[in-house]
Amino acid sequence: MYDRKVARVSRERYAAVIGWGMAVPNRVVTNDDLAQRIDTSDEWIRTRTGIRERRVAGPGESTSTFATAAGREALEMAGVSPATIDTVIVATCTPDRPFPATACTVQANLQIPRATAFDLAAACSGFVYGLTVATSLIKSGVSRRLLLIGADIFTHYINWNDRNTCVLFGDGAGAVVLEATDEPLGLIASNLSADGNLEDLMAVDAGGTRMPLTAELLAEGRQYVYMNGREIFKHAVREMSESALHVVQAAGLTIDDIALVIPHQANVRIIDAVARRLELPPERVMINLDRYGNTSAASIPIALYEAAQQERIKAGDYVLMTAFGGGLTWGSGIVRWGRPSR
Ligand code: ACO
Repeated sequence: MYDRKVARVSRERYAAVIGWGMAVPNRVVTNDDLAQRIDTSDEWIRTRTGIRERRVAGPGESTSTFATAAGREALEMAGVSPATIDTVIVATCTPDRPFPATACTVQANLQIPRATAFDLAAACSGFVYGLTVATSLIKSGVSRRLLLIGADIFTHYINWNDRNTCVLFGDGAGAVVLEATDEPLGLIASNLSADGNLEDLMAVDAGGTRMPLTAELLAEGRQYVYMNGREIFKHAVREMSESALHVVQAAGLTIDDIALVIPHQANVRIIDAVARRLELPPERVMINLDRYGNTSAASIPIALYEAAQQERIKAGDYVLMTAFGGGLTWGSGIVRWGRPSR
């Protein structure tokens, strides 16, 4: 049991994606549903964001509920026993509890014995950050088979009376199983960045150690997310396109080599602007935010899942993922799709 935790440099230098899964709440909230409660309209939300509906977690459902379901599906698709997973990473900024890590809850739910388990907080960039960390663990020999999940219940931080934020977000989880291989598959290049000087462009102020929750803060609504949407929009377009172009170059590829771009699903206008800068035709850009809204760290793995199920990516394709989120954090990665042949 402990033998598989000893780091060894080996010939297995890549981390192939061998399974994928997703899970979202059953409850659908449409734009019209929101328009009945606040001063907004389906037309405003659709034209400004591209979102038509989102999934919202119900009573008794927490981040681990969806992380577990997505992880279970990914394991089943990979055809591997939970007992063979040595590491569980949950990328989330909305954990079940401040501690222990939601990854430990998922590990217990899926009955994965003695795995390394930890959460990774990089907001909407969590999955791209996680993919890089996970691949590094496999490349270094620390891990051989790993479960990476992006999961968030961002609506937990939503003030449903704030039209600036409540129309944008939804809940869910997406997961991948990564496995060590000597075939050139999985993440082949990535870059990750952050700028903490811009941390206040989007944040939840109360509830952490800096500002513990009090009755007064709750009454002021300081437990909810606030955001400077216009500023975030500008940074998102610039940083996602620059990091995407940079990673394509670092991989020794051109944009024409990329079969599909899977951007973080925050706003279709951000995605369109990034696609224009990358000179990408619409058919090579994955968009599913119309049905889920911004699901934070889950958005890229959910979109990846749907792209794979719709056969928009096939073995040998290069898939470019690019993300942006609170922190600010951003980053891009290129995955060579396909399962190892042996
Ligand atoms: N319905 C109707 N009107 C609205 C709504 C709404 N839901 N929300 C805002 N408005 C109004 C505003 O009050 C404003 O009115 P005013 O001109 O009278 O002041 C007007 O619409 C325009 O507001 P803008 O903020 O200029 O609208 P914009 O076109 O910039 O769109 C949006 C706002 C959708 C938030 C956009 O800026 C955006 O998507 N920004 C990026 C946000 C983002 O991606 N955040 C997530 C980061 S990822 C993470 O870490 C979780």
